[in-house]
Amino acid sequence: MWCIHSAIRNIVHGARNHSLMRTLFLVLLLAHLVLTDETDNKYFHEPGEDDLHRHYDTRFFTDLVSDEERQLTLRAIIRAYLLLFENFQLETWIAHGTLLGWYWNGSILPWDWDLDVQVTNATLAALAQSHNHTSHEYHSPELNITRRYLLDINPWSWERVRGDGANIIDGRFIDVSNGMFLDITGLAANDPDTTDIIECKNEHRYNSSDIFPLRESLFEGVSAKVPYAYAHVLAEEYSNLALTQTNFHDHNFDTNQGEWQKVTVEGEEATPEGGAYS
Ligand SMILES: *[C@@H]1O[C@H](CO)[C@@H](O)[C@H](O)[C@H]1NC(C)=O
Ligand SMILES: *[C@@H]1O[C@H](CO)[C@@H](O)[C@H](O)[C@H]1NC(C)=O
Ligand SMILES: *[C@@H]1O[C@H](CO)[C@@H](O)[C@H](O)[C@H]1NC(C)=O
Ligand SMILES: *[C@@H]1O[C@H](CO)[C@@H](O)[C@H](O)[C@H]1NC(C)=O
Ligand SMILES: *[C@@H]1O[C@H](CO)[C@@H](O)[C@H](O)[C@H]1NC(C)=O
Repeated sequence: MWCIHSAIRNIVHGARNHSLMRTLFLVLLLAHLVLTDETDNKYFHEPGEDDLHRHYDTRFFTDLVSDEERQLTLRAIIRAYLLLFENFQLETWIAHGTLLGWYWNGSILPWDWDLDVQVTNATLAALAQSHNHTSHEYHSPELNITRRYLLDINPWSWERVRGDGANIIDGRFIDVSNGMFLDITGLAANDPDTTDIIECKNEHRYNSSDIFPLRESLFEGVSAKVPYAYAHVLAEEYSNLALTQTNFHDHNFDTNQGEWQKVTVEGEEATPEGGAYS
């Protein structure tokens, strides 16, 4: 865009009253308007917008991962992230589809493709100032893997309005071996007169008293925090049905085992799973 801008400037300066130049100016202006879309300002990029590609960070993406690798990757990401934030002594809690997985059985939903956590505006500022673009290695003897992660904070995280929607994610914790990630979003009180309502940049609004005081729990075997009124928060986002219905995404929840089990329909090939509740 910059070169079109400067071309326009040069033309305007060089030939104010020349009609041919004026036509060229209008053509360039039109091209500028057509080419300027939301991707211009977008900080985090994905290799595609479809369900299979939008869960990877372009910088580290090479190939789609297998189902098994996806689940292993996500388990390692959330553990590494939660342990790291405990080390930093920074407050964070799980949200959206990740919280729904916690609600059912303390684990990632088997069909999920990414992870969501939230932080306060203050934590977001601390991350940007002290921990942006830091790299972290994590070894899990239990999962038998060693992975490296990039903690990357969006420079647009200061801006607390949705804007063009290209920068609603404030930060990412990315597995650099395959590009899969966890999304970090900050919640801030946008009304200067009260902190009762806090919101992210993507129109998720919460009563502060529904989030705080956070509850201590476990997720994927490590300590994790969840919103105080988690059931209310989940029902608002996903409806009450999401808390009671035991069949979703070709899975049944076995209440005795406390596990989602894949329903296999005879004669049908398993299809790649999409990413609802993410
Ligand atoms: C751990 O992973 C390595 C390869 O990364 C493999 O060779 C080894 O057998 C695995 N160990 C266990 C206990 O699964
Ligand atoms: C984080 O670091 C990256 C790389 O240096 C930079 O592009 C980005 O603007 C930084 N984010 C913030 C919030 O400063
Ligand atoms: C969020 O924190 C930043 C940095 O501390 C501050 O500039 C901004 O005003 C805060 N925004 C809100 C809505 O609290
Ligand atoms: C916040 O709480 C009030 C009173 O309990 C309720 O009317 C309102 O719907 C809640 N807002 C949100 C965003 O949950
Ligand atoms: C929750 O269910 C998943 C399968 O959906 C299973 O892999 C996991 O072990 C279960 N978690 C617990 C804590 O039982």
